[in-house]
Amino acid sequence: MSYHLLQGKKGIIFGALNPDSIAWKAAERASEEGATLTLTNTAVAMRMGETQKLAEKLNTIAIPADATNLDDLNQLFLKSMEVLGGKIDFVLHSIGMSPNVRKERHYSDLDYNYLEKTLNVSAVSFHKVLQTARKLDAINEWGSVVALSYVAAQRTFFGYNDMADAKALLESIARSFGYIYGRERRVRINTISQSPTPTTAGSGVKGFDRLLDFAERMSPLGNATAEECADYCITLFSDLTKKVTMQNLFNDGGFSNMGMSLRALQQYEKGLFYDEECGGDAEKHRYD
Ligand SMILES: NC(=O)c1ccc[n+]([C@@H]2O[C@H](COP(=O)([O-])OP(=O)(O)OC[C@H]3O[C@@H](n4cnc5c(N)ncnc54)[C@H](O)[C@@H]3O)[C@@H](O)[C@H]2O)c1
Repeated sequence: MSYHLLQGKKGIIFGALNPDSIAWKAAERASEEGATLTLTNTAVAMRMGETQKLAEKLNTIAIPADATNLDDLNQLFLKSMEVLGGKIDFVLHSIGMSPNVRKERHYSDLDYNYLEKTLNVSAVSFHKVLQTARKLDAINEWGSVVALSYVAAQRTFFGYNDMADAKALLESIARSFGYIYGRERRVRINTISQSPTPTTAGSGVKGFDRLLDFAERMSPLGNATAEECADYCITLFSDLTKKVTMQNLFNDGGFSNMGMSLRALQQYEKGLFYDEECGGDAEKHRYD
């Protein structure tokens, strides 16, 4: 259903790899709401993934750009303004990647070159997007920039590894840049802290299926889907949220304010019974 919330607005959406991607759903919803937009992803992702297919569906173009590369970002904003016929009203940063997670490095045994890459791709790229946009004066007054985060920025989650540090930095960049961009040009900057969602990036997290189940049992409203995340993005891109900035906003069915739910407790009790009666492998996972 369309509310025409983005009628006449122009946007750039990073990170639509395949139909599971949160960015994919956000691009579809933004288009339904009347926006015109360009898509972008790395050249490799565009070869391996389906970004181009989405561009055709939405009657637009996909522009290759590595979000850690300032020249690429410069070209991306210039080309987008040319194609869309003016300055940008909204940007979605939907990018995350950790080589330490991919290679299953334990958090107490990180590869620091990988850590640099995690932070650069998953967080510093957000600063680069904002800095490039500001220098080009590419975003209209009351424009809106959103990045996607996860609650591991505030609380520790087994298996989320150095992505937790990246998300903490990402949220901090939203606040620090939000002040500057807000004062100068009335551009608002927020992060959405999303429930675990079955996507290519999400499924890379150790124990993802169990995390998904745990979050579902803990959240009074259940996990937020990728489609529901896209809906929330649309509200933040729209003029209905003009004074919302520098916030980390939870789209998680209530998970972040829960301590323990009956559903999660019941499942935990089954595990306790298993440990006592069958002998669990507790020793092996002492430090996990
Ligand atoms: N899936 C989840 O459980 C979950 C939960 C909370 C937050 N998030 C966040 O949502 C965002 C989107 O992830 P997703 O779950 O849709 O997975 P996804 O794998 O579909 O999207 C991640 C995207 O990042 C892109 N990317 C990686 N390196 C890049 C680079 N250098 N430059 C430009 N793009 C690059 C990938 O090509 C891909 O399109 C990420 O920030 C992720 O951390 C995901």
